[in-house]
Amino acid sequence: MPKEPAYCLPKFPRRHQYTWPRVETQTHPLQADGHDLKCSVPGKKVSFKTEDGRERRIGICKTIAEASRIYSKEYAADGEWKWLNENRRATYLSALQASDTDALFQAFSSLFRHDASYGIVTGTYADFCDTTKQKSLINGILCDVDTWLDYTNSTPEPYLSMPDVGMPYGVQFGDNLVSPDLCRHDYHAEKILGLAEDVNTSGATVLEIGGGYGGVAYQLFKRCPSKKHRWIIVDLFETLCVQYYWLSCCGIAVDFAIDGCIKHDSALVTLVPSDLADKINVHVDIVYNCNSFSEMARSSVENYFDLMNKQWKPSYIFHQNSDVLLFPDSPRHVEVLASEFPIGKSYQEIYRTLSPWAGGNGRYREYLYKKLASA
Ligand SMILES: C[S@@+](CC[C@H](N)C(=O)[O-])C[C@H]1O[C@@H](n2cnc3c(N)ncnc32)[C@H](O)[C@@H]1O
Repeated sequence: MPKEPAYCLPKFPRRHQYTWPRVETQTHPLQADGHDLKCSVPGKKVSFKTEDGRERRIGICKTIAEASRIYSKEYAADGEWKWLNENRRATYLSALQASDTDALFQAFSSLFRHDASYGIVTGTYADFCDTTKQKSLINGILCDVDTWLDYTNSTPEPYLSMPDVGMPYGVQFGDNLVSPDLCRHDYHAEKILGLAEDVNTSGATVLEIGGGYGGVAYQLFKRCPSKKHRWIIVDLFETLCVQYYWLSCCGIAVDFAIDGCIKHDSALVTLVPSDLADKINVHVDIVYNCNSFSEMARSSVENYFDLMNKQWKPSYIFHQNSDVLLFPDSPRHVEVLASEFPIGKSYQEIYRTLSPWAGGNGRYREYLYKKLASA
């Protein structure tokens, strides 16, 4: 049997994830390491260390307002996201549609507690404050920390530390906040970095479809101080604006490509609206998607796989999506199952495995595909 390199191997849990609440009954490994763990910290209040910091963030909101003026199209959401836009993101979307810098600043300053982040974080802030739901969310984060300690060859500092941007919430240990999706984002970043090094040691291009607030891109550049790789996110324009704010405030160089064309001297992260995905004009090495294809209309999923199979032809496709129909009668959106994704004949499945991360009620699976040498 040929020995697969480490980046190609699925990670199987070394122990079963605990399903009982750890919050009250157990000592967490981080506590054993001497960390002062507070399990129910509701997050920090918004604070700007200096007036400059505030001005800089207002400047970022101005750029977003200007991008929105230029984009000025009907939003392209379909599937679950059409419903979310129509029913859960009204305050944010009206600020964006009006290109209102002040209202955008209001929304983004408390991003994680505002409807601007609805649907892109596991568990809302309202859920986190709800005593009937809080314990299970905290338990999910603690289980994720266990999994992360098992799966990555890392120490929590500096990776498990959410930047103080947008008032995130989660579990605080010492000065570090672990927010609901941070462990998964960092594990995926580590995995993608391994794939990127395999494809092109001098600098690979990763294309993420559906990037949430930009957490995986941020963790990848944290893990890659040389910043030699490039990251493109294709997403709904309204979510790209969230990424622009969050990543810029986190110190990552970001650029919009409102016409889909990536500049030669591109920023670390380039943001492309989903309706212009076919205009991307650079070679793509890796395509990554997480908890997102399943939420789109089937026609959008087919369109992205058509682009992967015929136009982008990346060396790797890495994704995590639902493969169990938990909501078969959903009036919002019936998920597209991962086993039905039209993966092309030029790709070989390297592995599929259960996702070990909290959220999703057990329906998510992780998949890695590699382009055949003959393709
Ligand atoms: C549940 S969030 C997942 C975010 C992130 N990948 C994560 O795992 O934390 C789904 C993401 O898919 C994006 N999305 C929805 N419809 C899309 C479409 N048609 N094209 C690209 N992205 C889309 C949403 O805007 C959002 O960023």
